[in-house]
Amino acid sequence: MKNTDGKNILDYETVALDDENNAIIIIDQTKLPGETKLISLKTGEEIWEAIYLLKVRGAPAIGVTAAFGIYLLAKQILTEDYEAFYQEFRKQKEYLDSVRPTAVNLSWALNRMEEVCIKNREMAVADLKELLRKEAVSIKEEDIRVCKAIGEYGLSLVKPGDGILTHCNAGKLAACKYGTATAPIYLGEERGYHFRVFADETRPLLQGARLTAYELFSSGVDVTLICDNMSATVMKNGWVNAVFVGCDRVAANGDTANKIGTSVVAAVAKRYHVPFYVCAPTATIDRNTPTGADITIEQRPDHEVTEMWYQERMAPEGIKVFNPAFDVTDHDLISGIVTEYGIARAPYTESLQEIFRKKEEGMI
Ligand code: MRU
Repeated sequence: MKNTDGKNILDYETVALDDENNAIIIIDQTKLPGETKLISLKTGEEIWEAIYLLKVRGAPAIGVTAAFGIYLLAKQILTEDYEAFYQEFRKQKEYLDSVRPTAVNLSWALNRMEEVCIKNREMAVADLKELLRKEAVSIKEEDIRVCKAIGEYGLSLVKPGDGILTHCNAGKLAACKYGTATAPIYLGEERGYHFRVFADETRPLLQGARLTAYELFSSGVDVTLICDNMSATVMKNGWVNAVFVGCDRVAANGDTANKIGTSVVAAVAKRYHVPFYVCAPTATIDRNTPTGADITIEQRPDHEVTEMWYQERMAPEGIKVFNPAFDVTDHDLISGIVTEYGIARAPYTESLQEIFRKKEEGMI
């Protein structure tokens, strides 16, 4: 499936650095699938707003955007004095870090960038800026390798012809190439697995309908769009062999925050004995957050529920609205957490530690 310019949506980069023009180029995801519009972000305010309005969204893509963003903002700090540079860097970093609270990849990427400043404080500011560029580029390159490794482990959990259900968009549009939850699907497609995928539409912002269904359909995957309240039906019918979802933050005990509605899918999957897998780059695992109860859940504006995607408002004026962007799936509903270092199984407190041990040993 191609756009009017002859390109497939998968041919575009989700987030790209245009260093020459001091800009980040993103696809404005709020316009998909109707229009593929590339936009350029230059100022801190433009970057903040693009993340807040979900023009760029999905935990890994938010992390990459923040890394490019802080690099570009740092590049424009006009001083040779390290202390003055670092003070301004911290100010810009905190500003970007404030935009969305749940996806840990945002602060993870910004902290990695800050580490570069701290470790190289003796260096000339101009050279430090170059190191920041390299770090931001490697955060993006790592994302591609990490998602591919998650895809390989995920693929070992399913077989050709299987039905797979996914929620929200943890696809290429949420990352840089394979996505996380979609990585086993894309790798399987390349290898002739012919999965049958069910994409939840994902109210209220329709990331499943607008993004997941679009990117999978565009790449030739057999994908069926369902409303969020249909997952029990497709599972009861025996059409789903596994659920793969992404995540925004995994607590140390395995509790997982992901798009609102994920925990409902997990509960339904348990009822119908369908394995429920969370695909999680280690960048999304937050060992400093003990349990899901410690994860801050972003609250979003009312109009996203009452009118955003409707031709006319569909709820009474003045109605009370509850609009959390994410929910926490309790670890006992999760069959496995698929990382780039292998698959963690319950008890997660121990198995996630083992995953980080492998990471420290650089075992991939
Ligand atoms: O609000 P969004 O669209 O940023 O939410 C995205 C999700 O919940 C994804 O599942 C998660 O970030 C993982 S993306 C690989």
